[in-house]
Amino acid sequence: MNETASNAASTTASANASTAVRLTAVRRLHGDVAALDGVDLEVASGTLVAVMGPSGSGKSTLLQCAAGLDRPTSGTVEVGGTPLTGLSERRLTLLRRERVGFVFQAFNLIPSLSAAQNVALPLRLAGRRPSRTEIRDALGRVGLADRARHRPGELSGGQQQRVALARALVTRPAVLFGDEPTGALDTGTGRQVLGLLRGLVDGEGQTTVMVTHDPVAAAYADRVVFLVDGRVAGELWSPDAGGVAERMALLEGGGAGAVGALGAEAGGFVRAGARGGRGCADGRGGL
Ligand SMILES: Nc1ncnc2c1ncn2[C@@H]1O[C@H](COP(=O)(O)OP(=O)(O)OP(=O)(O)O)[C@@H](O)[C@H]1O
Ligand SMILES: [Mg+2]
Repeated sequence: MNETASNAASTTASANASTAVRLTAVRRLHGDVAALDGVDLEVASGTLVAVMGPSGSGKSTLLQCAAGLDRPTSGTVEVGGTPLTGLSERRLTLLRRERVGFVFQAFNLIPSLSAAQNVALPLRLAGRRPSRTEIRDALGRVGLADRARHRPGELSGGQQQRVALARALVTRPAVLFGDEPTGALDTGTGRQVLGLLRGLVDGEGQTTVMVTHDPVAAAYADRVVFLVDGRVAGELWSPDAGGVAERMALLEGGGAGAVGALGAEAGGFVRAGARGGRGCADGRGGL
């Protein structure tokens, strides 16, 4: 392990008990639609949290507010201990650049740039001239050190998403956010990317929050948070794919009634270990 990595690991270890992201009473209105309607959520450092819920339940809005890409109408968001509320656009941009990584379903790489140039972009935008080692390390973390010169069009979907991940991680962000990061990938490739995300959490303590529709993907997480109509409607700890699928069926079938049903379970979260670890139906494979 090089010095930077070992420093990062020790920083991570000391930060393990802390909160990486905190949303308090967050509302986000679009006209009279409440995309988020009073969300309280704490994400512990060094954990992988999945956000699930029916289409339109506010998952993307939650991620964007938490990442400083969107501003709540009311309520507060903190990332790595810094409150985002009241930050000027300039300060918010800096915070996003330095403390937050974001990957999207549609990789969003620049087609004319090589993998290495794509990964270097956030550092260049911050006015830094990235070193070759830095970029090679970032690509190495996602297993693509040998693809640095390839353009996105010369890479598979899974490889493109891994380049996007390297780009999101090159600034060593406090939190990595992914909005359906495996949504455009076939099952096998998606599992590889999920294995990689899980490995970054376990090996480097990379706090990660991802939206997914897929119960098997959610089973890679330490915790699943369910949203319905812009509100947190329950959660599962150490989830397995079957348990997540059951919850989703209940939420999608039941609408507001299901929120009531889950609310009646208040405090009845399934705690770590109660479901036999993080296992999932297909056996969470590595890379
Ligand atoms: N810019 C906007 N203008 C108006 N309404 C919006 C806007 N963005 C989101 N909404 C509304 O807010 C609600 C939540 O949207 P959001 O995109 O967060 O849902 P989602 O859970 O990510 O859905 P999906 O699973 O389909 O991606 C939806 O009703 C949506 O129509
Ligand atoms: Mg969405």
